[in-house]
Amino acid sequence: MTSERSSVKRCSDGSAGDADYGAIGAGYSGYRQPEPSFLAAISQALGTARTLVNVGAGAGSYEPRHLRVTAVEPSAAMRAQRPAGSAPVVNAAAEDLPFGDDSFDAALASFTVHQWRDLRAGLHEIRRVTQGPVVILTCDPAVLERSWIHDYAPEVTTVEASRYPAIADLRAGLGGRVEARTVPIPLSCVDGFSEENYGRPEALLDPGARRANSAWSFVHPETESRFQRLLHADLASGAWDRRYGHLRTQPALDGSLRLIVGLP
Ligand SMILES: C[S@@+](CC[C@H](N)C(=O)[O-])C[C@H]1O[C@@H](n2cnc3c(N)ncnc32)[C@H](O)[C@@H]1O
Repeated sequence: MTSERSSVKRCSDGSAGDADYGAIGAGYSGYRQPEPSFLAAISQALGTARTLVNVGAGAGSYEPRHLRVTAVEPSAAMRAQRPAGSAPVVNAAAEDLPFGDDSFDAALASFTVHQWRDLRAGLHEIRRVTQGPVVILTCDPAVLERSWIHDYAPEVTTVEASRYPAIADLRAGLGGRVEARTVPIPLSCVDGFSEENYGRPEALLDPGARRANSAWSFVHPETESRFQRLLHADLASGAWDRRYGHLRTQPALDGSLRLIVGLP
């Protein structure tokens, strides 16, 4: 099912956020697979819900199979990457959800709130259509610049930190009781968001891996070439390993990833 509704400004493929997935979204699911430990944390937070709305659903990464899911995704390029047999998807934006009040037991928004054009409106809508928990997987902008990526492309971590909403803003937008939990990132993480490659720097020499992170679409191409040049040289000389080599065997990183759980 694909229906269309939105008063939010859209790009050519329908993208309703600050990134144009018509331009950057094509290889997304090749690099952004659902990480099992994140899915387990999400499923636990969803509790006893039986129906779920997944807002900014993309290719459907964190949709628990045991729930009746309705996906909301404005970008045609992202909807096209949903596997056959996945949940029905509605073409709409978070800021204007085409559902009545309390339509779903629970809601999910993973790696998406930083892209919404109007965070406050999106949070108000997601709360309005949900009876129970609203679960948001996101990054805490206050700690994003601690990543080694900041040494090689500070423009990227800085733009990322400016896009992710402060945890306090998520709390205020959701209202009610809100918990913010740190989600450890395993060394073997298969969801290629910014800090996922904390112990595998070579992975970020692949331009496709960078494209799967929308932050790179906001920096000048020269920033990307400089990153490639410097990181390649430091890996060849051993400079990266002298400074960060301990990360190659660190089983998990308590980095910027947070699970926000809002209860009515
Ligand atoms: C990084 S992807 C994450 C996709 C998926 N939730 C996941 O965890 O893999 C961000 C998604 O948010 C969607 N998005 C951006 N702005 C949105 C908005 N205003 N309303 C709903 N979805 C939006 C994008 O189209 C994109 O599919």
